[in-house]
Amino acid sequence: MIAPSLLSADFANLAAEVQRVADADWLHVDVMDAHFVPNLTLGLPVAQAIQAVSPVPLDCHLMIDNPERWAPGYAEMGARNVTVHAEACTDPRAVARDLKAAGALAGLAIKPGTPLEDYLDVLPDFDTLLVMSVEPGFGGQSFIADVLPKARKARELVDAGHLTLIVEIDGGINADTIEQAAEAGVDMFVAGSAVYGAEDPSKAIAALRAQAAA
Ligand code: DX5
Ligand code: ZN
Repeated sequence: MIAPSLLSADFANLAAEVQRVADADWLHVDVMDAHFVPNLTLGLPVAQAIQAVSPVPLDCHLMIDNPERWAPGYAEMGARNVTVHAEACTDPRAVARDLKAAGALAGLAIKPGTPLEDYLDVLPDFDTLLVMSVEPGFGGQSFIADVLPKARKARELVDAGHLTLIVEIDGGINADTIEQAAEAGVDMFVAGSAVYGAEDPSKAIAALRAQAAA
């Protein structure tokens, strides 16, 4: 499954940019607060405006401090999946519970340097695991292949019946890197520059999907 990241879209034309990826599985919306990451993007009012016009379910990736305070709002406005960073949460389980109570899937993201082992005990409460394959903050960075063992480990735990998780990867996914991620067992591939940087985003989605399934 492919989730184009709106971070690489034209922010002055969001309604049109959303339509260009209408055949995606999820639309990935990167929320950054200039505290948890050194960049600032958009918040709940803009996400809500995107939700109102998007034919594709929203996948909100919150790169923010104090996700306990803000994450439920994204679930309440109708996002399909809301992902918070493990490193920013004081009580990940409580966030997962609030997200699910508000009707969304609950996602946990881990930065490239964060061990999966540190969060194995809370993962049963989550629906998605987002393995970051770049340092969060900016689109267009190079894929960090060293994170793949974390995706592989999560896949093994899911396949063995120990966890029920959508394994998602985010950062540097393109025609050159998606196959390694697919081989590691990733289900959902976030791609920003590889989709919105393409002349035809819809064709880019189809090509990435085919490569991931090969
Ligand atoms: C980075 C964001 C990513 C970003 C991916 O902090 O979380 O979603 O948009 O962009 P690409 O695919 O260009 O690496
Ligand atoms: Zn993201």
